[in-house]
Amino acid sequence: MVTETTQDHLEQVIQIAKGFYARKDRAHDLEHALRVREWCIKLAGAEGADVTVVELAALLHDIGRSGAVEKTHAESSAGLAVNILRKTGYSEEIIIKVKEAIIAHSREAGYEPETLEAKILYDADKLDFVGAIGLGRLFTLGGVQGWPLIGETSCESFYQDKIRGYHEHLFTKTASTFFEPLFKFMEEFWRELHTETI
Ligand SMILES: [Fe+2]
Ligand SMILES: [Fe+2]
Repeated sequence: MVTETTQDHLEQVIQIAKGFYARKDRAHDLEHALRVREWCIKLAGAEGADVTVVELAALLHDIGRSGAVEKTHAESSAGLAVNILRKTGYSEEIIIKVKEAIIAHSREAGYEPETLEAKILYDADKLDFVGAIGLGRLFTLGGVQGWPLIGETSCESFYQDKIRGYHEHLFTKTASTFFEPLFKFMEEFWRELHTETI
């Protein structure tokens, strides 16, 4: 029974996750999960959270995006994560915490992040949607969805409706500190874009 992350077990989880992330949506691919993992490690260190739980939660948090349509992607990902972690040999204590974090990382399932680890995963996921990386992801997503740059149901409207709102809804102080300059960069980008729009 694995009670803490060994490199081997973590590597096994990454390899399994890779299969789930191998699809056309490059805004929610393995690279996104790996960046969220890095943010999680950083936030967990500053906030005093369980690093093993947030690392595993980050790696697996979006694996259910192409899963069953009757469930939200957070619920699908959480269910799949439980099976993967059991097979890999993690303890039930860790598995429950990872599940709680994944299920609450998106508001669509109606769960609020309650544990510190769930709050950190939520915040880390939002930090990957700001700054230059955030813009890159936004346009990648727009390409998949067929959104125009600006106007109705566009990359800009997604930014206005969703990403701007993250600003008000982060759970940890550490994440807010990192978020601020990345958010300002994005705001500046849209200002610049409108000066170029004829
Ligand atoms: Fe997600
Ligand atoms: Fe995500």
